[in-house]
Amino acid sequence: MRTKIAGIGKYLPSRVVTNEELTHYMDTSNEWIIERTGIEERRYAERHTETPTTMAANAAKIAIERAGITAEDLDFIIFATLSPDYYFPGCGVLLQRELGITKTEIGALDIRNQCTGFVYGLSIADQFIKSGMYKNILLVGAEKHSMGLDYSDEGRQVTVIFGDGAGAVVLQPTDKEGQGVINTVLHSDGTHAEELAMINPGSHSGYHLGTEKFGYPNDDKDGGLFVTQKMVDDNMLVPNMTGQLVFKTAVVKFPEVIKEGLEKAGLKKEDIDMLVPHQANLRISQFVQKVMGLPDEKIVNNIQKYGNTTAASIPIALCEAWENGRIKDGDLVCLAAFGSGFTWGSALLHW
Ligand code: ACO
Repeated sequence: MRTKIAGIGKYLPSRVVTNEELTHYMDTSNEWIIERTGIEERRYAERHTETPTTMAANAAKIAIERAGITAEDLDFIIFATLSPDYYFPGCGVLLQRELGITKTEIGALDIRNQCTGFVYGLSIADQFIKSGMYKNILLVGAEKHSMGLDYSDEGRQVTVIFGDGAGAVVLQPTDKEGQGVINTVLHSDGTHAEELAMINPGSHSGYHLGTEKFGYPNDDKDGGLFVTQKMVDDNMLVPNMTGQLVFKTAVVKFPEVIKEGLEKAGLKKEDIDMLVPHQANLRISQFVQKVMGLPDEKIVNNIQKYGNTTAASIPIALCEAWENGRIKDGDLVCLAAFGSGFTWGSALLHW
């Protein structure tokens, strides 16, 4: 038995935020953003009515319908996000409720692997399906970054990159020749955990694992609270990123992990019909494309329209490519991701 994508869906909020709009909030420009990231616009969720869970539900309903099942047929939910509705419980159970699933013979798992969340989730789902434990798994990636960004000049390097959205797949077993997941490869290296991170609010309580250089002092008198006044006063409730380190590491790890998956499967890069990289930055994807020697028609880039949607970026890009007829039955599709942690991974599958 292999794991197949039986249905796929995506949801992007309707509000388009152009680079020009961002220039009203911070000192940036359309030219700077396009030159460094390739991003022209992104979507922001409606502040009061849309959450990662509601966006995920919209994407999931499409995936469920395309899989030809109902929400009640699901036996497991995996939800990947770094911007959950609540600190706890996770979005998995919220999505179960949002989809109107009342049965309790279902599991809900939340994973927090940031940009690699979808690839990690697919790997987990693949094991459950291959073992025969589950037959209908809903895997979603959804993010509402717009609520957690720093719109001051200080945050501009990070803020311009991110957007909101959701993507979902329904995974099922298949015994059809030439269909399904071939392998997944997962990696991590915690050495640089704080280089692409949002460490507050959190339970570290003034005990920092190497974060002094980001201005989080060890002698925080306020420590011991999950959220402190100091965090608010000193603008410490925002993500930070050492952009150049992320760039340099990503352009090495993406090709490495793609080649590792290919080698394990006894395949060559020429066999890839479509590479769907996590939409981190157009410059990163272009670099990876060049190293892999792939023509334009074999790579999906839609970061120009949606920005970086972290855990949602791969299912959104995969869905769009499939909807546009760029992915057909039997195609060898490669998913690859790199992100916060650092974690990175790849998945090879026949559509
Ligand atoms: N608008 C205008 N100017 C800006 C902005 C902005 N939004 N952000 C930073 N700048 C300025 C800086 O202040 C700096 O000015 P200075 O020279 O006066 O000091 C100048 O631009 C250059 O800044 P750098 O940080 O050196 O810019 P760099 O060339 O490294 O580009 C970037 C920054 C785009 C973030 C780059 O490092 C990068 O692409 N890194 C990869 C990170 C990434 O793509 N992450 C994706 C999210 S994580 C993931 O998904 C894996």
